[in-house]
Amino acid sequence: MSSLDSFLRNSVGGTPLVPLEKVVPSGCGDVWLKLESSNPTGSYKDRMAISVIGAALDRGEIGPGDRVVEYTGGSTGMALAFVAVRAGLKFTAVSSDAFSDVKLRSMAAYGAEVIIEPSDNRKITPELIERMRQRAMQLSRKPRSWYADQFGSPDVRAGYRPMGTEIAAQANGRVDVLCAGVGTGGALMGAADGLDEAGVTPDVVALEPAQSPLLTTGVGGPHRVEGIGVGFEPPFLDRSRCSDIRTVDEADAMTMARRLAAEEGLLCGVSTGLNVHAAIQLARERGPGSTIVTLGCDSGTKYLTTNLFA
Ligand SMILES: Cc1ncc(COP(=O)(O)O)c(C=O)c1O
Repeated sequence: MSSLDSFLRNSVGGTPLVPLEKVVPSGCGDVWLKLESSNPTGSYKDRMAISVIGAALDRGEIGPGDRVVEYTGGSTGMALAFVAVRAGLKFTAVSSDAFSDVKLRSMAAYGAEVIIEPSDNRKITPELIERMRQRAMQLSRKPRSWYADQFGSPDVRAGYRPMGTEIAAQANGRVDVLCAGVGTGGALMGAADGLDEAGVTPDVVALEPAQSPLLTTGVGGPHRVEGIGVGFEPPFLDRSRCSDIRTVDEADAMTMARRLAAEEGLLCGVSTGLNVHAAIQLARERGPGSTIVTLGCDSGTKYLTTNLFA
C-alpha cells in the first residue's frame, strides 16, 4: 500500500472495541462491538478499499487517471470513491435505489459516477444484484477501466486482517466467538484470519437475514439488510472455519439497531443490529464468563432517511 498517501494509510483502522452494557441482559456472557464507524467513510469497507486499490497501484495494474468500476450497495462504493479520489483515480459505482440514498449521494459527493439500476419496491433481490453485476462488467471492459472485484480479489479478505489483530490485542487475547453477517464474507473471514494469526482462535459464526436464508437452506429471497444476504454463496466464506451459520430476522436486526442508538449511544446500521442480536443470543447460550465479539459494520447516519430511522 506504499502508493497510498499517508492520510489514507493512517486514518483507516485502529477502531475501538466497545463493551455493550444496556442491551445485553444479565446472565449472559460479555458482548463487545468492534465499532468501525470511526473509519473515514463510516464503515469497515475503508479497510477493503485501501487494500484493494493500494495493492493494484503497487502492482502497476492501475495508475492516476484510470477508472475503478464496481457494483455496490453503497458502503463499498463510498469507501472506493473516497480512496479513488485521494489516489487520483476515477470511480464508477453501479448501484440501485434499493440502497440508502445517503450512500448514493455520498458516492456522488466524492466525485463518483453513480449508475442506478431500478429495484422492485426497494427490495434487494438476487435478480437486482445480478443486473448490477452485468452492468459493472460491461463498463469495466472500456479502456483504462479496472474492475475492483470486491467478490473475487484476494486483497479484500487480506484488508480485514488488521481488524482481527486489533481485536486480539483489545480483548487481551480472549475471544470465544466471533460472529457477523456476510456479504462477500471478507470482513468476517479476514477478521478471523487476523485473530488466528495473533494466536486467538474463536469459534466463527456466520449470519444471514432470515428473509434470505441462502446459506442455511439454499434459497435466497428479498430482504432489507443492506450489505449482506447477496443471494449467492459469499466468495470468501470458508465454511470449514465456521462452527455455525445462523439466520436473524430483519425486524430483530432493526429493533437492535434502534436500541443501540437509544440505549448505548451507538448509532449503527441494520447489519450491525443483526450482528448484535445474534451476539447476544450466543452470549446467552455460552453464559457468564464467555466473550462474544461482533462487528459494527457502519454508521447509522447512512440510514437516517431509510425505514430504520425515518
Ligand atoms: C453495511 C454492511 N454490512 C455488512 C456488510 C458485509 O461485509 P462483507 O462483504 O465483508 O461480508 C457490508 C458489505 O457490503 C455492508 O455494506
